[in-house]
Amino acid sequence: TDFCGGFLRQKLADAAEDADLYHDYNDTMEFEYFNSMLINKVDEDGNPLPLGGAFPLEENEHFNKLPVNVQTSNIQVPTNVYNRDPDIVNGVYMSEALDNVFIDNFQKDPTLTWQYFGSATGFFRLYPGIQWIPDESGVVTFDCRNRNWYIQAATSPKDVVIVVDVSGSMKGLRLTIAKHTINTILDTLGENDFVNIIAYSDYVRYVEPCFKGTLVQADLDNREVQTSSLNPVCHINHKLLFSANPIEKDYLIITAATAMGQGSLCNQAIMLITDGAMEDFEDVFEEFNWPDKRVRVFTYLIGREVTFAENTKWIACNNKGYYTHVSTLADVQENVMEYLHVLSRPMVINHDHDIIWTEAYMDSVVTQNLLLMTSVAMPVLLSHGILLGVVGTDVALKELMRLALRYKLGVHGYAFLITNNGYILSHPDLRPLLIHEET
Ligand SMILES: *[C@@H]1O[C@H](CO)[C@@H](O)[C@H](O)[C@H]1NC(C)=O
Repeated sequence: TDFCGGFLRQKLADAAEDADLYHDYNDTMEFEYFNSMLINKVDEDGNPLPLGGAFPLEENEHFNKLPVNVQTSNIQVPTNVYNRDPDIVNGVYMSEALDNVFIDNFQKDPTLTWQYFGSATGFFRLYPGIQWIPDESGVVTFDCRNRNWYIQAATSPKDVVIVVDVSGSMKGLRLTIAKHTINTILDTLGENDFVNIIAYSDYVRYVEPCFKGTLVQADLDNREVQTSSLNPVCHINHKLLFSANPIEKDYLIITAATAMGQGSLCNQAIMLITDGAMEDFEDVFEEFNWPDKRVRVFTYLIGREVTFAENTKWIACNNKGYYTHVSTLADVQENVMEYLHVLSRPMVINHDHDIIWTEAYMDSVVTQNLLLMTSVAMPVLLSHGILLGVVGTDVALKELMRLALRYKLGVHGYAFLITNNGYILSHPDLRPLLIHEET
């Protein structure tokens, strides 16, 4: 796994950390940067757009024939994040220092493709610079913080039990928001994580009966099964739903905690999604989670109603979690991201163990890359353990397979790739087909 250098990422991560260390935060800073959505565009009067301007692009064989600028990186900001927010402007300014490293890396190793820095504040610095094409409705939903490479590098393996209230009041917009919250949480999980979903009204049951009582690996298949199981939960009548071995509601948290016993035992979290009255479960927490509070509880209060905020807040605050109020669909993304900050990796002494390799995938969104590849990434942390973001690069699997010299393999020999965290990236019998699409 030293191919194309832990060294390179190390240099990137070091440069990002140094840049931040020497930068004083300025909350009135004005700084013009190249926003990949706004470059090379003009307003009605023919003037360049703010944060835009002339940005030379040239078609490049090495980057899927896309028009790129190999002299500099540029910045993408998701539509729901203000592109002149002081956090963004300061972050973009400090991370300019990465350009030299990107260019130097590419000159030293021309097989390198895309190199990038995803910031915890939400901006994405991509080298080489490109023009970002929005979807038909003109929005950019791409958020580097929910890419697999970002989440895996930013957090340690987690066990997550999602507990969702499906009682009578959870319908219409609230139900849509609750489902979107669950899907957004599932999107933050990967092969290193374990998950299950429990639904409750008067009774408690597992959303996917096949996974009953266990945490399952949050690989793509299992995440999809859980997502598709959500629909019946939410639409059909609850009598039908809870007929199979219902557990009384008093045992809700105990059920969630029991499921926890079988996971990876690293970061453990219960995500409680509700729209209303909630008991505080004080006895239960006292019994199973206090005083060490091994399991964090994050609570998401859905809908405009805040009358019941007290109990939900109390539960989160007394279990090392985080309370959020999610009143609109647009709130979901940022609110779910909060939990990742709480669970992000503790300060890491030895960076060498931090490099992660993602599952093999194709990326149809950013780089329109229809070749199987893996992303190699590592977190960028300040000395006091605060996560600045994640640096990474994409590596085409065919580049890696070139390392296996055919004549050395012998007649019946074959090559396969396995990463330090146990993913099989390439094998003659493996047909991975994971395409990241905008949701
Ligand atoms: C902060 O930025 C503003 C605008 O760019 C500038 O006028 C000011 O001098 C900066 N403050 C410091 C302390 O650098």
